[in-house]
Amino acid sequence: MAKTNHLEDKISIIGAGMVGSTIAYALMISGLAKQLVLVDINRGKAAGEAMDLSHSASFVKPVHIKAGSYPDCAGSRIVIITAGANQKPGETRLDLVEKNARIIKNIVENVRPHCDNPIWLIVTNPVDVLTYLVLKVSNSPPSQVIGSGTVLDSSRFRHLLSQYCEVDARNVHAHVIGEHGDSEVLVWSTANIAGIPVEKFFKMVEIDSPAEIKDKIDRQVRRAAYEIIERKGATYYAIGLAVRRIVESILRDEHSVLTVSNLVGGIYDVNDICLSLPCVIGKNGIIKTLRPPLTEEEIQQFRSSALSLQKVAGRVL
Ligand code: LAC
Repeated sequence: MAKTNHLEDKISIIGAGMVGSTIAYALMISGLAKQLVLVDINRGKAAGEAMDLSHSASFVKPVHIKAGSYPDCAGSRIVIITAGANQKPGETRLDLVEKNARIIKNIVENVRPHCDNPIWLIVTNPVDVLTYLVLKVSNSPPSQVIGSGTVLDSSRFRHLLSQYCEVDARNVHAHVIGEHGDSEVLVWSTANIAGIPVEKFFKMVEIDSPAEIKDKIDRQVRRAAYEIIERKGATYYAIGLAVRRIVESILRDEHSVLTVSNLVGGIYDVNDICLSLPCVIGKNGIIKTLRPPLTEEEIQQFRSSALSLQKVAGRVL
């Protein structure tokens, strides 16, 4: 990527609702961002969030946070987009596509003139289709257009496996790929605990009826957002920390592997759509999209997830 005049680790967050402000909060606590700009159509909300967050100054590493408008995004290294309508109880993420595509297109067209070659990090749902939209509208290199994708779903998968197996989630390695949504694919075939395949681990700890547990975990991961939205109206803490994790790998050039949404060019014959696969992420965005080993069934599930996203993308592109 050409050297551009990024102000050191400046991050703009477009959308100061619960997700955007939680991301700002997570970035402040982690000391990752030195400059944060919050932009929202409701300027008062953005100003209130910036004021509240900035009052934590003496508890966190120095960070300059302000509410602003599109010109204030100038020099951002990363532009995080969370603005848009979120799921109502019973609504799928894909149901939001027409409404949010208009919002996202408008945001990119307004940010682009002020931001020279940023990394775009899309969170708004349906995140895969909207990541593809940002790729088309921004004309940025695909490596710099990243969707939060199934980073959160993979964490949900790891959390639930850790609960059943009574092991620290950090020692559970499991990926969710495909759509961040109803057609996502839990990759059971390579899920492992400290290198021990999950099926073997279940036997080792004598977990009975593993098939039932697998179905239960699949359902709980796939329906997590619906269950939370029914109870508290929205999700924001885990997605906020998932986005912080992606930003951390970029800003610290960590080369971490995270299942983010990105333009898939031919892996398992999927082309010309954004959806999640394990990717190596560094200072310039996506370094490499990995082709994980999958069973025939998982490959079919991945391909049908891509197909359902391509059908929806066709409605807005
Ligand atoms: C969720 C939202 C971020 O899965 O789509 O919680």
